Amino acid sequence: MTNPTKARTAREKLILALDVPSLDEAVDLVKELKDEVGLFKVGLELYAHGGTRLFEAMRAEGVLFFFDCKFHDIPNTVARASEALVGQGIAMFNVHAAGGFEMMHATVAAAQRAAQDANVQVPKIIAVTMLTSISDKEAEEIGFSATVSELVPKLALLSKKAGLDGVVASAKEVNAIRKACGPDFFIVTPGIRPSWSSNDDQKRIVTPAQAIKDGADYLVIGRPITQASSRRDAARRIVEEMESTT
Ligand code: C5P
Repeated sequence: MTNPTKARTAREKLILALDVPSLDEAVDLVKELKDEVGLFKVGLELYAHGGTRLFEAMRAEGVLFFFDCKFHDIPNTVARASEALVGQGIAMFNVHAAGGFEMMHATVAAAQRAAQDANVQVPKIIAVTMLTSISDKEAEEIGFSATVSELVPKLALLSKKAGLDGVVASAKEVNAIRKACGPDFFIVTPGIRPSWSSNDDQKRIVTPAQAIKDGADYLVIGRPITQASSRRDAARRIVEEMESTT
């Protein structure tokens, strides 16, 4: 299985969020949509239901997947957990940049060593800068003296210096991150809504075309596809919209 270098085609840039409460439902979605999307995202809900059986199921389907469980712990713990992910077929996983430089650096080093030992590719490791659910008021309550929009590029640059491949960020933050981290750093953006779909609980949304125009490398999309009457058509329409900007 190959890991994504920077995604090139619109399809490769589309990550489907598998936000479903059972392994069977996740596998059904993967079977139905594996020709339409580039990567599948496994988050905390699905992991809590499916555990590591998920990894076997994804490998059996031969798809790339992003393990989105946002590690945030001391350097040794995150590094050891990351080693365990290598060789499971995971193409990408993430950590919280607020875990600090040492944690991120140790994680990259451990994943690289484990990949070398197992003779497999190193998964892409990306950081969550600030959760998009955190407001300036909450950041202040936590003890940050800067605003979220000041913290995001700062934490993105810290992740880059620690050797990470990119960040997860709102499309609204792409410009500032690009400026801080340059063109080769991956930016993965959720909060995407095509004009024809419901916003659900997403508040600060952008369209697929706009996100690509703004410079996002990967778009994470869930319900506009999973809740559509024809999921394949929805995924194809999104890919076409992404292609229309290039
Ligand atoms: O269904 P929807 O397209 O809103 O799904 C978006 C996915 O991206 C969900 O899995 C959600 O947890 C994730 N996400 C997000 N906003 C963030 C970070 C992750 O919507 N800031």
